[in-house]
Amino acid sequence: AMTHHHNFVVADTPYSRLCSNKSILTVNGQFPGPTIYVTEGDTIVIDVINRARQNITIHWHGVKQPRYPWSDGPEYITQCPIQPGSTFNQRIVLSDEIGTLWWHAHSDWSRATVHGALIVYPRKKNDYPFPIPHAEIPIILGEWWKSDIQAVLNEFLQNGGDPNNSDAFLINGQPGDLYPCSRQDTFKLSVDYGKRYLIRMVNAVMNNIMFFRIANHNITVVGSDGAYTKQLNSDYITISPGQTIDFLFVANQPPSRYYMASHVYASAGIFDNTTTTAILQYTGNYTLSSSPMLPTLPDFNDTLASTNFTGRLRSLANKKHPIDVPLNVSTKFLFTLSINLQPCVNSNCSGPFGDRLLASVNNISFTQPRIAILQAYYDRISGVYGDDFPRRPPFRFNYTADIIPRTLWRAGNGTEVRVLRYNSTVEIVFQGTNTVAGIDHPMHLHGQSFYVVGWGFGNFDKDRDPLSYNLVDPPYQNTIAVPRNGWTAIRFRANNPGVWLMHCHLDRHLSWGMDMVFITRNGRTADAKMMPPPRDFPRC
Ligand code: C2O
Ligand code: CU
Repeated sequence: AMTHHHNFVVADTPYSRLCSNKSILTVNGQFPGPTIYVTEGDTIVIDVINRARQNITIHWHGVKQPRYPWSDGPEYITQCPIQPGSTFNQRIVLSDEIGTLWWHAHSDWSRATVHGALIVYPRKKNDYPFPIPHAEIPIILGEWWKSDIQAVLNEFLQNGGDPNNSDAFLINGQPGDLYPCSRQDTFKLSVDYGKRYLIRMVNAVMNNIMFFRIANHNITVVGSDGAYTKQLNSDYITISPGQTIDFLFVANQPPSRYYMASHVYASAGIFDNTTTTAILQYTGNYTLSSSPMLPTLPDFNDTLASTNFTGRLRSLANKKHPIDVPLNVSTKFLFTLSINLQPCVNSNCSGPFGDRLLASVNNISFTQPRIAILQAYYDRISGVYGDDFPRRPPFRFNYTADIIPRTLWRAGNGTEVRVLRYNSTVEIVFQGTNTVAGIDHPMHLHGQSFYVVGWGFGNFDKDRDPLSYNLVDPPYQNTIAVPRNGWTAIRFRANNPGVWLMHCHLDRHLSWGMDMVFITRNGRTADAKMMPPPRDFPRC
């Protein structure tokens, strides 16, 4: 295995989109940030150098960081932010990850512009469980705000309502030619007739699950979240913020130019009908008959189009790529995911009824501590967090009813963790609720991938629903969209000692408190214990 060294210089950089200029936070001046290429099992050593005027941390999304939570990155969970003028030397050790993952800032909303792809090749070149592509192309879905992103964050936290939408979605940093001033720079992918291509897609959008489609071309999904999947044929994909999807397509249509397009899937609330586009163009000589046609994407509120795609993902689960789904479970949780309301202290807030919007897991809205939980755990500093995060919600009620008693719209606040024994086998059932609004929540767990063993609409039935779990080839993900007013069951083995954040990857929900923390204890043997912190670890 190799060690790759990189510098990540974080700095404010002038960029221009949608006919106007602004300064955005970037890594090495690039937006989207640099793509990092490694091979299975390699190590990445990164000097994160903060030359910006604000705090930063970098998270390696989907990298398990075995026994080494020190480089995981979420601010005030595993570390304090890297302050302006300082450097943090992060060591990222890969284990079973393969395919596409990504890295992003994990401090306030800076991930809006501070993100990039991480591509993990198999040990033997082209040793893919699918036909070898002629070329591989990363595609990052992102967003552009005309205003300053920190200002957007501060504004909605202060006024208590929904955040402003971005001004455009982006494909590889470009809004596409449906927007003014963008035609020149629209992302274009040149293909040769008859050849096969692998797209490595990352959804780096802040607050939306996205649909994506290439006009006239079918696709075959072969991987997601840093693991291979069984081949899945489709004409569109659904991708959650945080999720990655690898898919193949063959350039087998009459040589021409075709649109690739993406727009929002919004089960509730914020809908933005803008479509971002890129262009697939065949090489060679041909005459363009007309301008390219936009592909038909599913409707913005088409929940079935979203769940049908996500629910068909399967692990390869063969000899060469076996799965390890726990068949017996030692630790079971039922976690409700809710949007909540809280009275505004001083003035009227712009949430429903003049209240402030919050979000919670098991009715606890997470409060960020002032000392990172990992530091407090390791150094035995008391008073930073509590360790009785509830195993199940405090009330039993019809979670997905249309009318839910307003008393249940309130949530408590707290910094509570749940401690897991080393090697315990864990099942979490996420129950979506209809308090205030029912919406899909893409839940993401740090430090582990998990098997998605079941999902459904309505209230989870603990006697009936487990009978239909898929324990044969469940997909191995790090982010899974819990369907609107439905539930999703995941399983994993807690064999990675450390402090691991779990949260909704819609950033407004994360900012509202839809997060909680697991502490996985050390095992007995030396190779089952957390490693010590690096010397330059950013303490609080
Ligand atoms: Cu993509 Cu907590 O992260
Ligand atoms: Cu959410």
